[in-house]
Amino acid sequence: MRVTPYHVEVVILALLVQGSSAGLYANISPLNHTCALQSPVLSCTDLANESKSDSCCTETFGGLVLATQLWQTYTGHESAKQVNPKDTWTIHGLWPDFCNGSYTQYCDLSRQYDPLPSPNTTTGTPSGTPVRPWTGTNIGEFLKPFGKLDLLAFMNKYWIAQNQPNSDFWGHEFSKHATCFSSFDVECYGPQYVQHQEVVDFFETVISYYQILPTWGWLRAKDIAPSNETAYSLTSIQAALTEGFGKRPYILCSGPAFNTTAAGKGSKDQGKVVLSEVWYYHHVFGRVQRGQGLRVDADIAGGALTNCATTPGALWYYERSKGSEV
Ligand SMILES: *[C@@H]1O[C@H](CO)[C@@H](O)[C@H](O)[C@H]1NC(C)=O
Ligand SMILES: *[C@@H]1O[C@H](CO)[C@@H](O)[C@H](O)[C@H]1NC(C)=O
Ligand SMILES: *[C@@H]1O[C@H](CO)[C@@H](O)[C@H](O)[C@H]1NC(C)=O
Ligand SMILES: *[C@@H]1O[C@H](CO)[C@@H](O)[C@H](O)[C@H]1NC(C)=O
Ligand SMILES: *[C@@H]1O[C@H](CO)[C@@H](O)[C@H](O)[C@H]1NC(C)=O
Ligand SMILES: *[C@@H]1O[C@H](CO)[C@@H](O)[C@H](O)[C@H]1NC(C)=O
Repeated sequence: MRVTPYHVEVVILALLVQGSSAGLYANISPLNHTCALQSPVLSCTDLANESKSDSCCTETFGGLVLATQLWQTYTGHESAKQVNPKDTWTIHGLWPDFCNGSYTQYCDLSRQYDPLPSPNTTTGTPSGTPVRPWTGTNIGEFLKPFGKLDLLAFMNKYWIAQNQPNSDFWGHEFSKHATCFSSFDVECYGPQYVQHQEVVDFFETVISYYQILPTWGWLRAKDIAPSNETAYSLTSIQAALTEGFGKRPYILCSGPAFNTTAAGKGSKDQGKVVLSEVWYYHHVFGRVQRGQGLRVDADIAGGALTNCATTPGALWYYERSKGSEV
């Protein structure tokens, strides 16, 4: 049989489609994912299983959803006008943990847009599949054909990277984490799926969680404000955030261990002393995109609630550097 250019094109297209649908589950049809027709199933329950629910409409893969925020005092790119927004924490991401609290990453290498993959293999060990650095257009550009310039502006204001351009950080968050949500698989978007549609959708979903988690305000309401003079106690930070969120979040510190600082000399407290992140845990009703999280304690699947120093008055909630905040 003569192979016409048309046939060649069809074969190539078929290969491309196959290559691009390396989603979490094999052989999902792009049809019939009108999630409005079914009542939303809560993730991490018996029904939230791909054998019982549509994985596009129920989060069957990463059902323990972490909305994560950062407190950073500088960006390293201030000269490029990459600065922190005043009086608010910034976005880190939205992460799909397994219901048992463990997690995986870079779940679909056909949607790898991270210029600096970390880890650089899917498992973080040399035996994992290598995650090749993305060298194409930065992920922020993906929003432009959709006309989502306001979304891009919002992200440049509230989703701030440190020591790398914002868009590189967004590419990292998308490819490392969003590809591990069943409901962001491309099949879920139907036969008319437009490339990068789910990227836009993911960013909007991240923001919808961020906007109802006012970390800065919850702390401020209890007189906990950034200060380079006064240190705070973990218990008061935990109490303020737990009152605001309704459940206990994970509080992450960076910097030195307390007992390696002058203030902690002789102490056994090895917790870190610089308040840096808060992770808010949820189970979710229906597809993650709906934004309906059921707030849960950060230790719901076991594990710790913090890595910060527990000694009273050991924690620093630093003021942003001059010129790093507008
Ligand atoms: C989609 O739904 C229609 C109407 O219920 C049904 O006939 C069809 O078999 C379904 N297709 C798939 C792939 O689920
Ligand atoms: C879903 O159900 C199957 C079959 O019962 C089981 O093997 C699998 O572990 C379940 N998946 C999850 C995420 O619980
Ligand atoms: C946690 O759940 C995932 C997904 O079901 C599974 O692959 C993994 O082995 C589980 N880990 C532990 C420690 O049970
Ligand atoms: C990952 O990084 C390590 C340490 O820099 C390096 O030795 C290794 O070759 C890298 N692996 C891949 C797949 O790039
Ligand atoms: C810090 O505390 C740990 C655990 O108690 C101890 O092993 C370590 O030696 C201490 N470090 C310093 C510098 O005191
Ligand atoms: C506060 O302290 C932090 C940490 O040392 C520093 O990065 C920041 O620039 C300081 N902010 C001001 C306004 O002095």
